[in-house]
Formats: sequence, C-alpha cells, structure tokens
Amino acid sequence: MNTHKKGRNRMGERIIAIEGGHKLNGTVRISGAKNATVALIPAAVLADGPVDLYGVPEISDVAALAVLLKELNCEVSIKGEHVRIDPTNMLDLPLVSEAVNKLRASYYFMGVLLGKYKKVQIRMPGGCYLGPRPIDLHLKGFEALGAKITYEDDTYTLEAEELVGANIYLDFASVGATINIMFAAVKAKGKTVIENAAKEPEIIDVANLLTKMGARIRGVGTDTITIEGVEELHGTFHEVIPDRIEAGTFLVIAAAAGEKVVVQNVIPQHLDALISKLKEMGIKMEIVADSIVVYGATEPLKPVNIKTQVYPGFATDLQQPLTTLLTQADGLSSVTETIYVERFKHCEQLNKMGAAITVGDSASLIAGPTPLHGARVMATDLRCGAALVVAALIAEGVTEITNVYHIDRGYDNIDHKLITLGAHIMRYEIEE
Ligand code: EPZ
Repeated sequence: MNTHKKGRNRMGERIIAIEGGHKLNGTVRISGAKNATVALIPAAVLADGPVDLYGVPEISDVAALAVLLKELNCEVSIKGEHVRIDPTNMLDLPLVSEAVNKLRASYYFMGVLLGKYKKVQIRMPGGCYLGPRPIDLHLKGFEALGAKITYEDDTYTLEAEELVGANIYLDFASVGATINIMFAAVKAKGKTVIENAAKEPEIIDVANLLTKMGARIRGVGTDTITIEGVEELHGTFHEVIPDRIEAGTFLVIAAAAGEKVVVQNVIPQHLDALISKLKEMGIKMEIVADSIVVYGATEPLKPVNIKTQVYPGFATDLQQPLTTLLTQADGLSSVTETIYVERFKHCEQLNKMGAAITVGDSASLIAGPTPLHGARVMATDLRCGAALVVAALIAEGVTEITNVYHIDRGYDNIDHKLITLGAHIMRYEIEE
C-alpha cells in the first residue's frame, strides 16, 4: 500500500488508509458508551467528593471534557479506562474558552453548574453539523425550575435565586434535554416531573450514577421521570455501559466484510432495531449473553427500508454505517431520517466510491448492489466516518479517509480493533 503518491493536502492532514477486500474474522471487544460517558463526566461535579468511572472509552471527547473540568479547577486523572474526578476544590468559574466549542456535550455543564452553584456562564456548545441543533428544550426546562437566562456574544448566563421542582413536558423526547434537566433538578427544592422524557439507555446509565451519588430519581427509561431534590450528593464509583452505537457499527462491519466475527461486551436488547433489520437483509447472527456472533453474507443481501426514531426505534447514529451495507443489497432500499433531517452528507462521499444513492427531503434511496472502489473521501462527521470505514473495508483497492479527528471523537482505538480482525489499515500524515 504506497502512501505518498496521491494528491497534495494541508500540512499534517491525518489520514486513515484502508485496503479493501480482506475478510474479517475473530473477536472485537466493545468499549464504554461515548454518549453515556460525555454526560457521566460532567455529572461527577455535582458530588461533594471524588467519583471513579470505569470502562471509560479512550476517545478525544473525554480529553476535551477533562480540559473543561481543569478550567473549573476540578482534579481529573485519566488512566486508561479509569477516570477519577475530584470536585472538592472546584471553583465557580465561567466556561467561555474555545474548548467549549469542541463538543456538543459541553452543554451538560449548564445543568450541573446550575444545579451546583445556581449560576453558570457558558459558551454555545459545538459538535457535529447534522443540520440545526437548537437547545431550546434544555433552556425551557431550566426556566421552569426557576433560572433566568440571558444570551450575549455567543455566551449563555443562567442564574437562579433558588431552583424549585416543576412539571416539565418536553415537546420532543430529547436525550440531551432529559439529562440536563435531571442534572439541574437533583438538588432543586421539591419534586420535578419530566414528561415525554427520552428513554435511551445512556439516560438510565446517568441516572444510575446520580442515584449512587445519593439522588432520588424514579421512572428513568420510561417517558415520565420523577426527581425528588436532595441537599447533598456524595462521591461514588460507576462502570459505564457498553457503547451500543460502536457495537452496531461493528455488527455492520462484520455483516459487510466478515466471515465469522464475535462482537463482545454488548447488551443485545439495546440493538433490537438494528438486529431485526440485519436479519431482514438475510444476515445470520447468534446472540449469546453479552456477545453477538455475526456470519458474513453468503447470499445476495435483501434491500430494506429504514426510518430513524427515538429509542427503542432505529438509532439515527446507525443509519449512516448501515447505508453503506445497503449499497450491497440486491435492489432499492430507503432511509428516512426523522431526528436530523440533514444527516446525509455521507451519501455524496459514498457515491465517490461508486455507490448509487440519491438524497431527497430527509430521505435517501440506495440502489444496489454497486461494487465500491477506493477513493479519497472525507469524514464530514463522526458517523459519516464510520460509514466510510465500512465502505473502505469492502472496496476494491485503497481508500483514504480524511478528517480522521471526527472518527477519533467517538470510536476507541478503531484501527487496532480492525487490525485484530484482519483488516489492512494504516494511518499517516501527509507532509507537503
Ligand atoms: C444525542 O444528541 C447524541 N449525542 C447524538 O449522538 C444522537 O444522535 C442524539 O442524542 C439522538 O439519539 C450525545 O449524546 C452527546 P437530542 P442530542 O437532544 O442530545 C432536536 C453521535 O453520533 N432538539 O435527542 O443533542 C434536535 O435538533 C451523536 O454520537 C431540539 O429541537 O440529541 C434533534 O433534531 C450525534 N431542541 C432532535 O431534537 C432541543 O433543545 C434530537 O436531539 C434539543 C433537541
């Protein structure tokens, strides 16, 4: 695989190069859930003592959150999958540095700092561009608890004399708003009820940590969550749940490029919607306790129609990787996106590799099967990156994926895991 022959690029551009066509076999262990972790870490500052998190994925979002904690004079130590957060000497400071824009989940500092200090100043959060991503439901929830909110120069200021429990109905079952309101309500006076709450497994994981810290929360995992405010929250330890989106991505990788792959450290129920679609396509799988054995396709794959929905419906974060597999199905498949209407940037990149995808109004049509070939393609966001990795593993020749930082934000050591399964993959930087 000759690396430096193709094109010119920005100084120091990091690239993942994958030679397709190598069959994958073996076992891959799934890491802790990114979308739980990025809420669990901020949650720890609500405690009056140290919180130990285990099974934390080694992803760049964790490092980005540690930077924000240090800005608040909060002690953080990261040793492999163990993260210790000690807020004992924390200070009530504004979060207005560039670091806030690095990720979406920095918005969780709104809820925890409001809950802890009844005052917070924070810049607008960042994150993948998937179309408009307002935080109005978060802000409405904080206001219902008694916060006054102002917005100036890209910075929110939230202040409350005191936070008092309230009944909050969410117009949309937003993951982030459900968690953030929980953060602000756990130390508020009296009872808070969140109706039409989101039910994603990551929310249950966060509530489990808060409960271990001494919070009183009931009904999480249903659409009505009740929180009784408490005076204090104490330190504790917690193991992060497995990442269902990483697991789903590897199920798709195994279906596309595998012969026999065991995906380990999974909670299969968290993937029911994906598993039933893979079965509908003709993929053979065995579910054994916390592992799923996937047998690569030997028959032509059947086309299917996907409609993303809130949990337990089909996860929007898996529609991009699955789209790549649908390019190999024998016929026309469709993907309808109900969560992020503009989440289709991967389609243009896949078409550069020979796919035949047309994108319409919050939907795509995928005509297959189309042989894919190597090309230089760009990861426009985290899950687009995953879709391109799947494509590169089955493409003829070498594919170079740029904007690798997007992939590293949410996939723990993906190169190493793929190499263990037999993939031919390498990383390099293009020098001028
Ligand atoms: C979380 O984002 C995840 N991110 C996303 O994963 C995931 O796609 C999403 O939930 C849905 O499952 C994290 O957990 C850090 P939402 P979040 O609030 O909380 C609209 C990945 O690839 N909305 O449930 O931001 C919003 O625009 C990422 O890992 C409002 O209108 O999602 C979107 O259309 C990408 N107002 C929909 O609701 C609000 O105040 C779902 O958003 C909040 C949300």
